[in-house]
Amino acid sequence: MLKDLVKQSRSYRSFDPAVKITQEQLLEFADAARLTPSTTNLQAIKFKLVSDPAQVESLVERTTLAAALRPLVLPPKGHHPAAFIVVCIDTAIAKNPTPFLKDVGIAAQTILLCAAEQGLGGCMVGNFQPEAIREALGLGEEILPSLCICLGKPDETVVLEEMQDGKTAYYRDEAGVHHVPKRSLKEILL
Ligand SMILES: Cc1cc2nc3c(=O)[nH]c(=O)nc-3n(C[C@H](O)[C@H](O)[C@H](O)COP(=O)(O)O)c2cc1C
Repeated sequence: MLKDLVKQSRSYRSFDPAVKITQEQLLEFADAARLTPSTTNLQAIKFKLVSDPAQVESLVERTTLAAALRPLVLPPKGHHPAAFIVVCIDTAIAKNPTPFLKDVGIAAQTILLCAAEQGLGGCMVGNFQPEAIREALGLGEEILPSLCICLGKPDETVVLEEMQDGKTAYYRDEAGVHHVPKRSLKEILL
């Protein structure tokens, strides 16, 4: 059921190095994202599919996971993602990229749900310098990297819990389990 997939699709930041992701799998995810709603149907979103190990490493170096948990370094050494999809805005199509950030989010969640359906997972990463990603991947000047999605077979445990005392900060316990507080249904309804 879709709601089960939504629950399963957490932000994962540690991956089983034995599980690879093929370019064909990434193509399937991008093909689903291609069909999602689009501001004025301009379809200004472009996807860079990255499964080459050297390119994956260059993206790991240029993206920051869970800065709030420093000094913990994620992904842990030896548990790096198998692939990335970089969701970009083509500014040759969308002169003002700002409204299209919504499209980026829709595409990204679609990709992560497709991954979850295959027993994979990942994390949306907004903490990076677009120029550094553009340069590392040899993207054109008109391409604005807007969100990186790291992907792989998660090998860590993430649990959702109801938010207590107004604290939304995620945290890790002594066993390394990642806890994600969520506001209650009652609280989010206006
Ligand atoms: C637009 C966006 C950008 C994000 N950027 C980062 C990021 O740069 N680094 C990171 O570790 N997590 C990032 N996240 C993941 C959030 O931290 C995560 O969604 C939040 O902690 C809730 O966990 P959950 O996804 O498991 O519900 C981002 C999420 C979104 C929606």
